[in-house]
Amino acid sequence: MQTKKFKIGLFAFNASSGVTLTKDPKRWAPSWEDIKKISQDAEKMGLDFLLPIARWNDWGGETRPHKMAFETFSLMSSIASITNKIYLFSTVHTAFVHPIYAARASTTINNISNGRFGVNIVCGWNKSEYEMFNVEKKISSINRYKFGDEWLSIYLKLLNKKNDKISYKGKFIQVKNAQCYPKMVDEKNFLKISAGFSKDGREFAAKKFDILLTMFSKLENLKKNNQEIIDLGKKNNKNIQIFSPIHIICKNSKNEAQEFYDMYSQNKQDFRSVNNFISNLAWAKKDILASYLKQVKKQVAGSLGGFTIIGNKKDVAEQINEIYKSKTSGIALTFFDFRKDLSFFKKNVLKKIKRF
Ligand SMILES: Cc1cc2nc3c(=O)[nH]c(=O)nc-3n(C[C@H](O)[C@H](O)[C@H](O)COP(=O)(O)O)c2cc1C
Repeated sequence: MQTKKFKIGLFAFNASSGVTLTKDPKRWAPSWEDIKKISQDAEKMGLDFLLPIARWNDWGGETRPHKMAFETFSLMSSIASITNKIYLFSTVHTAFVHPIYAARASTTINNISNGRFGVNIVCGWNKSEYEMFNVEKKISSINRYKFGDEWLSIYLKLLNKKNDKISYKGKFIQVKNAQCYPKMVDEKNFLKISAGFSKDGREFAAKKFDILLTMFSKLENLKKNNQEIIDLGKKNNKNIQIFSPIHIICKNSKNEAQEFYDMYSQNKQDFRSVNNFISNLAWAKKDILASYLKQVKKQVAGSLGGFTIIGNKKDVAEQINEIYKSKTSGIALTFFDFRKDLSFFKKNVLKKIKRF
């Protein structure tokens, strides 16, 4: 990825409904043509990265958000061959994808993209997906980061150019004489993101990753939160960067943006899928997050609880500036309609924040 201080990319463009839980008929429903177009447009306008969401099940309710989600290794491999500059991530679940497969898929895409590839590793949280793969709760919830740690050790050993065959005997995963070829064409440019929220999630990222992808709810607390994560990284001799998903509702006026947001996230909310999303968090022992989100159902429907900027072009640029000044290294943007709204964002906001 470029050495710019502040990176801007797109997140969750590969799944139906994007990050919304709404019955609005105009909700995002991407075809491959849409994804191709926004990937190439993102590259042309100078965005830094593309980060797909990894989903295997949906959120139920009337609209079943994420029912359609392009698989992230195969998708990014195709995007690699229709782009030249933009950095690509695949999102991979430690509990569902074997590290030997993940390593080989990663080095393959690293070759195809000429070193523009990294991974976003998720140790997971979704009950129905674990049931789908018949993964026991010990691994899915209680020990998710211990399992993730073993998975990561195997994965990194396989990527390492110095290693031919490797064996590993962990508590959860064992492999014997595993190998991974091709190796990467550019190891230095390989980035590892960990997406997490809990204390364990932060520690896991701060010890072993380049980037923590995490959420925040209030701009006022962001700088302090980010500093804590940066300090945690320093304790582990890591210069950890923090990326956050940011949902953008940008219209000609603040009123228009607010009305649009209220329409799809309140009036046309898919209540049942919102409730499913919140009860899933309670299952995954994320009680604090679950009880907070119960109070903000509209925010769950609006952006799956992620920070949302609602306003005109000036408001959006100002708040992005605040996020940058709070020591966030990258933002993964989401939109209601990635095609239309990204183009509006490019015309009206991007120039103002390019100087970062
Ligand atoms: C910005 C962001 C993106 C995430 N993307 C995915 C994803 O694509 N698929 C998925 O199953 N989980 C995803 N997760 C969920 C994480 O894997 C993790 O389980 C969740 O954030 C809870 O964190 P914790 O396990 O540290 O409590 C994401 C989380 C964050 C914060």
